[in-house]
Amino acid sequence: MINVDISNVWGECSLNDLLGLEKEVFEAHKMLIERKGPGNDYLGWLDLPSFEATDEMRRIVSAAKRIREHSEVFVVVGIGGSYLGPRAAIELVKGQNHNLRGRDPQIFFAGNNLSTRAWQELCALLEGKDFSINIISKSGTTTEPAIATRALKWMLERKYGADEAKKRIFVTTDPAKGALRQIATEEGYESFVIPPDVGGRYSVLTAVGLLPLAVAGMDITELMFGAAAAKRDLGAFSFENPAWLYAAARNLLYRNGKKLEILCNWEPSARLFGGWWQQLFGESEGKDGKGIFPVTAEFTADLHSLGQMIQQGERNLFETVIRFVPPRKRTMIEMDWKNLDGLNYLEGKSLDFVEEQAFQGTLAAHVDGGVPVILVQADEVCDRTLGELFYFFELSCGISAYMLGVNPFNQPGVEFYKRNMFQLLGKPGYEIKQ
Ligand code: PA5
Repeated sequence: MINVDISNVWGECSLNDLLGLEKEVFEAHKMLIERKGPGNDYLGWLDLPSFEATDEMRRIVSAAKRIREHSEVFVVVGIGGSYLGPRAAIELVKGQNHNLRGRDPQIFFAGNNLSTRAWQELCALLEGKDFSINIISKSGTTTEPAIATRALKWMLERKYGADEAKKRIFVTTDPAKGALRQIATEEGYESFVIPPDVGGRYSVLTAVGLLPLAVAGMDITELMFGAAAAKRDLGAFSFENPAWLYAAARNLLYRNGKKLEILCNWEPSARLFGGWWQQLFGESEGKDGKGIFPVTAEFTADLHSLGQMIQQGERNLFETVIRFVPPRKRTMIEMDWKNLDGLNYLEGKSLDFVEEQAFQGTLAAHVDGGVPVILVQADEVCDRTLGELFYFFELSCGISAYMLGVNPFNQPGVEFYKRNMFQLLGKPGYEIKQ
């Protein structure tokens, strides 16, 4: 169960200030679940968590079983939510080096950049390997995944022939609309659905996340169970609800001049989870001249880089720190007879004990330095905890964005760079008028 501790924000705002927001949080939460706010046709993610496996989940598990049997590598093609969700989930639970373990198919990602080097590296990694691909795009028209798809499809057809290639191409897209749906139908690819009322950054609990996770050997039923438990637990309309505390505290801090939020992870494997969070909050809130700028940091590594800035730079930031319960199996620090490094004072202490002291020391230093800290405490890293975290942050983001007065479910600003790029590339319909 997720717990939010805001006892380290009181240097910057008061309990009265927070309680003064009660009506606003209430209205925002109500607007969300009654589907009465802006963007209310994109609230399908509220209904995704489920204690029971759905037909779509059963189809996903069956496809994943086949893929695991015939593929050494699974390439997930997508960008934005179609990339960050699955990658964040796999890395958090299985570790950043999951591809070196050798037990499950390797999972590579493509279509999330336009880098020639990255593409050529992927081609080299696929050399001589049996592989399948999962093309994920809600719109079906996004440039980066579309370019990668075209090339990967050719690679598969050359390697296996058209008929066998078909069995190795899996599509996740809108059920009826878009180029990718048309491709899947015409070519006869097995396909999965991103419901029309679920936007990219809220889609990780659809086939977008579930198929790659299942191929990676994760338990998607547990993941969904965690999300469903979070949905049940985060239903309260009071400050006992951790999502209320998080949404209210960050809005209060923002109004008090804290324009930057750093999501601090103490688990290296949560780095990409930070990326997922960054997209969720950044694209949902950054509009109409408003929004907390979301950045991420990995501690203790970034204490040796960003730490200085956090401690003594401009006082315009706050931290949200995610803490997981440490693994039950302890790693102990051993005695060294020579003690040349002077570390014998740690003999017999566990690594997580040292980490906890580093965390407490950092917390005290940052709070003393004028950086308010919101603590998000989660259980041990596992599929279920991950499901809880996904739903917790999605709900908090919806509430928070409504408090900010923006539509969390659109991203009109993203179109500007695309228009310029299409003009420069000469895409039909985007010609520069002389
Ligand atoms: O949150 C969003 O909707 C976007 O960031 C999308 O995830 C991203 O642009 C990719 O879009 P699509 O899935 O249509 O390819």
